[in-house]
Amino acid sequence: MKLFLLISLCCVTGSLAGICQDAFKNSNDLSRPFFQVIEGQAIEIYYKKRTASQEMFGIKIYKNQDLRKKDLHCDLCVNTTLVEDGCFKIKSTLLSVQPRDELKYITLSKFTGKPEVTVAPSRKAEFTDYVIPASCVCKAPAGAGYCTKASTKITDYRPLFVFQEGTTTGVYLPKAPSTESVGLQALKNANFVPAKQQKVPQKLDLNVEQLSERDGCYALESNEPRFGLGDHVNFVVTGKKTDGKKIRTDPRKVYLNNYFIPSTCSCQQQQPQQNLVKPQPQKLAKN
Ligand SMILES: *[C@@H]1O[C@H](CO)[C@@H](O)[C@H](O)[C@H]1NC(C)=O
Repeated sequence: MKLFLLISLCCVTGSLAGICQDAFKNSNDLSRPFFQVIEGQAIEIYYKKRTASQEMFGIKIYKNQDLRKKDLHCDLCVNTTLVEDGCFKIKSTLLSVQPRDELKYITLSKFTGKPEVTVAPSRKAEFTDYVIPASCVCKAPAGAGYCTKASTKITDYRPLFVFQEGTTTGVYLPKAPSTESVGLQALKNANFVPAKQQKVPQKLDLNVEQLSERDGCYALESNEPRFGLGDHVNFVVTGKKTDGKKIRTDPRKVYLNNYFIPSTCSCQQQQPQQNLVKPQPQKLAKN
């Protein structure tokens, strides 16, 4: 448990001005923490301070663990009293999160004048797809970067998405030998309506009949449409198998409610600024 002592509670000013406001701006659930994860490197947790009497926020995170098991160990357990920009903030480099990891967590709160600690029911956050703030600069991963990640992690016509807020959308789907071609249809903040029920054909936000093949993946990199924090992206994978059978998956959803940043990106937020000059707050682009 000595490890807990090594957790760095970030107390550096400036570089993150605005993230608390941005993350919770359109949120209808302010009791949810916001995560910003840099793949394999660091995790930052923001929790809105909603009442003046909340003096402590704590979290217990269990990575890829079944909470019903007895031999639970907490992968990151930390409490903080530090409030920055309206949010309790925790930063740690002790928990490494990779694509498709699932974090189950329990949050704790302590209020002035109340001896007991309030414990919220457990919740989970999934880190399946990358969601990158507009302010980050990302080098395309060397070689087959995203394709390799998609191939080892995501199967059954479930592509790996790379959303950079307000700018690009990347889609990577491993190529199976029995697949002849795949396409992708996506809707932003709307559900697919069965064809029979459509009075007029539904306008898709993304409709690519055939993804191109690259590095052993079907890949797509598009500047349209623009997705941002808070968006739900509903998608189906379409296509054809080599035996002529059609592919059309059930609609599935990606919810862009946390930042998950590939290690190949560099973001202003990542570099702790030594408190000399406060940089201008970096505005995160929204739609
Ligand atoms: C956080 O606070 C709770 C409640 O006071 C306590 O039980 C727990 O041990 C603390 N965790 C850490 C890591 O200090």
